[in-house]
Amino acid sequence: MKNETSATTKSPRVFTSLDAWTVFRKSLDSKSVGFVPTMGALHEGHGSLLERARAENDYVVLSIYVNPTQFNDPKDLEKYPRTLESDVAIAAKAGVDFVIAPTYAQMYPDQYRYKVTENDLSTKLCGAHRPGHFDGVLTVVMKLFNLVRADRAYFGEKDYQQLELIRGMAAAFFMQTQVLACPTVREADGLAMSSRNLNLDSASRTQAPAFAAALKSQSTVEAARETLSKNGFDVDYVEDIGNRRYGAVRIGGVRLIDNVEL
Ligand code: PAF
Repeated sequence: MKNETSATTKSPRVFTSLDAWTVFRKSLDSKSVGFVPTMGALHEGHGSLLERARAENDYVVLSIYVNPTQFNDPKDLEKYPRTLESDVAIAAKAGVDFVIAPTYAQMYPDQYRYKVTENDLSTKLCGAHRPGHFDGVLTVVMKLFNLVRADRAYFGEKDYQQLELIRGMAAAFFMQTQVLACPTVREADGLAMSSRNLNLDSASRTQAPAFAAALKSQSTVEAARETLSKNGFDVDYVEDIGNRRYGAVRIGGVRLIDNVEL
């Protein structure tokens, strides 16, 4: 993440009211806007998206919203880390201009009666294991794109299936926001950075890098699955699609996803 001194750090303006944001957004109309949508618990992976957004746009907007409609398991939603105060401090250091942090009532005035559904890629991989997950993701991203009206939006390749689906949605609906991909950021030991890593206990954290290692090193999906099971992971899936290997596992009650280019 960009390491600016406090002398150059300016706190972003935080909007918890979408009405206030919508009025304010009109004043930015002649400038370019880069957007990084997140569920908070910011880490270096988000930092790299923010850094690119900062470099390519006049203004940077960050959304922090733990979106309930993409969680198929209420316990998972409950456990999802919420760290708004430190997120805003990180956003300030990364040069974010505006943070949008709405409530459910504001994001879903329709109580989720309307949704965006894709019916091919979204049924595979994570979609097959988390029913309704991608409906929730696509719906909230559509809402956020309409609210932010960004020129560019930045997504991490760690969630590659999500990235492909959002790219597809933007094209299908002639959305004016360009969807840009940024490489996965990894810890020194190879674990892909993720907000969920905060929930790993120390034994699981020690074991977790073996996930990416197995995806990369094994020549077949069967061998990767077997290696992961032997190393104490519950394997949701390991699948090769195109030139990419995708995996999802659980360790110590935490679900991790990753993918590598073959
Ligand atoms: O990747 C995420 O953090 C979320 O799925 C997203 C894109 C912010 C939608 O809630």
